[in-house]
Amino acid sequence: MTAPVLVGLPLAGRDVLVTGGGPVAASRAAELQQSGALVRVVAPHVCEDLHDLVVVHADTVRLDERDPIAADVRGAWLVVAADDGPSERDRVHRWAEGEHIWCVVVDDPGTAQIADVDTLLDEGSVDLRRPSGALGSVTLVGGGPGAPELITVAGRRALAEADVIVTDRLGPRSVLAHVRPGVEIVDVGKTPGHHPVPQPEINRILVEQAQLGRRVVRLKGGDPFLLGRGGEEVIACREAGVPVDVVPGISSAFSVPALAGIPVTQREVTAAVHVTSGHEPLADAALACVRDASATLVVLMGVGNLGHIVEQLRGAGADQATPVAIVERGSTPDERVTRGLLRDVVDVAADARVRAPAVIVVGAVAAPGLLTPAGR
Ligand SMILES: C[S@@+](CC[C@H](N)C(=O)[O-])C[C@H]1O[C@@H](n2cnc3c(N)ncnc32)[C@H](O)[C@@H]1O
Repeated sequence: MTAPVLVGLPLAGRDVLVTGGGPVAASRAAELQQSGALVRVVAPHVCEDLHDLVVVHADTVRLDERDPIAADVRGAWLVVAADDGPSERDRVHRWAEGEHIWCVVVDDPGTAQIADVDTLLDEGSVDLRRPSGALGSVTLVGGGPGAPELITVAGRRALAEADVIVTDRLGPRSVLAHVRPGVEIVDVGKTPGHHPVPQPEINRILVEQAQLGRRVVRLKGGDPFLLGRGGEEVIACREAGVPVDVVPGISSAFSVPALAGIPVTQREVTAAVHVTSGHEPLADAALACVRDASATLVVLMGVGNLGHIVEQLRGAGADQATPVAIVERGSTPDERVTRGLLRDVVDVAADARVRAPAVIVVGAVAAPGLLTPAGR
């Protein structure tokens, strides 16, 4: 069933126009797509999220990469004006009104502006100073695996109080469409193999923004301290004398398998779990837990290294029939589970074109049907 949007408008199968290509436009387009609408985005430039949405949902989200014109609103049941400038949004609004089409004008694109990191790092950004001149603060917020419902209440509160949000690519990016007007969003998101902003620069942005008197939220995917480099950010703040605190988040290591029906521990199956990064060679403890079937192994950031990970486990003497599950894009509408055994999972994953982000679960709990009641 498709979910209604806004005041319950049933938009399934209906044309909706979104103007603008920033993260707010991306988030609105994603919500509309999920509610079943046929979305057309018209914008001269689009952000990475919007680009991804168009690629993944090519059948329901179309992109015209150019400035919107009056004729674009015709035939739409609803128009969402999320262009960068107020005059552009007003213009789209007028076109829609002229055609008697409902138009939602996004309040303040200020919430949508992805600041240019170089500009922020520039000395000239001092006009961002809060009038009080008080020392700001940094709050690391664990955003959970991606679904907006899976960030904590404390995390939402911190976002509501932020002056600046420094965000990652993973985590609940759609919540950024609903922060208060004027909040600046700095995207330092990393994609596999592509690190636009190095960690020391991120640390520097956090510290500098807080020293300008701003309340900075560092929104991170999952939990900040689980393979999230949150500790380094805390140390950087403390070294600079900037007040820093942490709102824990729901880690993908446990939540992504859980959402796919995989309990990382299960009575009479396994009572331990070992979480590791797939970027480095597996440690002896990780190899031993699969070889001895003594614990579930959960690997983050392992998709690109899957062949090597499997090779190491097999080399350590793990049973070839050990179940493996790979859960991609957990908690999002594009979540997918691919299963195999240690002996064949590399081929299975290649055939399925498994991509990051994904959580790899190795061990008896990854077998299909573990939670199916006996006899059904
Ligand atoms: C840099 S680590 C950060 C982990 C994060 N601190 C946490 O606690 O979830 C990023 C990795 O987490 C995993 N991950 C995060 N969100 C995910 C999601 N929604 N679905 C699948 N894997 C996810 C992937 O393995 C990804 O490569």
